[in-house]
Amino acid sequence: ESVNHLHRTAFHFQPPKHWINGTLISLFVRPVYYKGFYHLFYQYNTKGAVWGNIVWAHSVSKDLVNWEALEHALYPSKWFDIKGTWSGSITIVPGKGPIILYTGVNQNETQIQNYAIPKDPSDPYLRKWIKPDDNPLVMPDYTMNGSAFRDPTTAWFSKDGHWRTVVGSKRKHRGIAYIYRSRDFKHWVKGKHPVHSKESTGMWECPDFFPVSTTDFQNGLDLDYTGSNTKHVLKVSLDITRFEYYTVGKYDPKKEKYVPNGDTPDGWDGLRFDYGNFYASKTFFDYKKNRRILWGWANESDTVEDDISKGWAGLQVIPRTVLLDANKKQLVFWPIEEIESLRSNYVRMNNKNIKTGQRLEVKGITPAQADVEVTFNVGQCLDKAEEFDPSYTFKPLDLCKIKGSNVTGGVGPFGLITLATPDLEEYTPVFFRVFKDTSTDKPKVLMCSDARPSSLKQDRGPLKQDRMYKPSFAGFVDVDLSDGRISLRSLIDHSVVESFGALGKTVITSRVYPVKAVKGNAHLYVFNNGTQTVNIESLDAWSMEKPLQMMNNGAL
Ligand code: FRU
Repeated sequence: ESVNHLHRTAFHFQPPKHWINGTLISLFVRPVYYKGFYHLFYQYNTKGAVWGNIVWAHSVSKDLVNWEALEHALYPSKWFDIKGTWSGSITIVPGKGPIILYTGVNQNETQIQNYAIPKDPSDPYLRKWIKPDDNPLVMPDYTMNGSAFRDPTTAWFSKDGHWRTVVGSKRKHRGIAYIYRSRDFKHWVKGKHPVHSKESTGMWECPDFFPVSTTDFQNGLDLDYTGSNTKHVLKVSLDITRFEYYTVGKYDPKKEKYVPNGDTPDGWDGLRFDYGNFYASKTFFDYKKNRRILWGWANESDTVEDDISKGWAGLQVIPRTVLLDANKKQLVFWPIEEIESLRSNYVRMNNKNIKTGQRLEVKGITPAQADVEVTFNVGQCLDKAEEFDPSYTFKPLDLCKIKGSNVTGGVGPFGLITLATPDLEEYTPVFFRVFKDTSTDKPKVLMCSDARPSSLKQDRGPLKQDRMYKPSFAGFVDVDLSDGRISLRSLIDHSVVESFGALGKTVITSRVYPVKAVKGNAHLYVFNNGTQTVNIESLDAWSMEKPLQMMNNGAL
């Protein structure tokens, strides 16, 4: 089998070939004890570039940038997982070591929760895993939907002497997160009520449930942290539309109940970790640096036939730190600092005005493999922002579709044009558009990452499955622009553009497949298509190197 490299990434995690499904599980094993490896386990098809034949593939890293592939950790072999070793997570249990909780699929296609332990806990690579014969740990009871019961979270230990884990599910159209508790990690009892549920959201895949500090906006929290200065976050992945949403709220450990804050939407229009191509994400607490790290999966946006012919599908976005925003209503995300070790050629721009219709090229770096951070100042012209009618019922995505990067506004659209040809036959613009909310007189900022003009590639046919997916992804950015500034950072890597608005308040990942704007023919610009001049306070851009060790040591 051959692998087509044209759109493969340089500094994102990708196995050398075949399908990777995000549902990723990672942990940092305490450095002294396990010699400081980060472990990544991911759903992987051993046989092809579509979903199927799923095993737990395993890689280790010392810096989350360079990765070494190991043998598969789990694959179907026992009656309790003969039809699937699906997603789950890892918990480090004091005195016992790391324990995997995962979903097995049995002969009847029932989803059940199992565990696995390292064969040799003193092996820093944790190469071999055992699935003890006293599995499964949990079978769905008669009140539950056995074909929708999966993806146990990392367990946490509470003062009452119990471990707890959350498992995703649904009943009819109601999305559900069940909670289980155990004293010995073997005997698990279901909570009286689900920890949370929501009508008409469908299956909750890959739930994630973790505390965030309301007083320390620098460090992450481990799952068993208790203290009054916390809120909890519940994230779910919705399999109907393949996007995730989260809420910020309060967990009551006595009642085993989570309640989202009253002012956050809970459901289809909820907040998102990433408003683009991003799914099946998981966070983990990194003991080494006291941070919570989010890792998500970006599937392909071309067709299944394209995936088969290119021989690979899916990648992991750059890991991101997760913190509660100082407004305590949402999270903020930022690429882990380790990725900056790959920065090379550096260019900078300062205090440059960019007028209506102007496009400035960023030269001196490799635009198809780059990291760029720009801070705009629009303080002078906010009164010229177009009006945002509060009765607009448009979703951000539709608004971006109508008001694309070429539709002149007052303040904006302005931003970056990535993976572009000089004549803009192909380009992926990432930009802001500032409105004035007429009900509050405050700015309302839309951020877009628009894949519509990204590729000249012809569709294979008129049907949906034959067309490349080129959405105008978008989200609002909750900033008041009181100091006039708004920043944008994009990590560009051949077929993926990850963009962070306002230091990570709104994040959008796009997958794109240019035909001409590839490798050395790709260009990067800053643009402004608003009527008002915008100031580039600063722009810093780097070429990105390929990590020395990135899985090119062959899949095992
Ligand atoms: C998420 C998911 C999980 C499941 C796994 C199977 O994409 O569907 O719910 O455990 O993938 O590979």
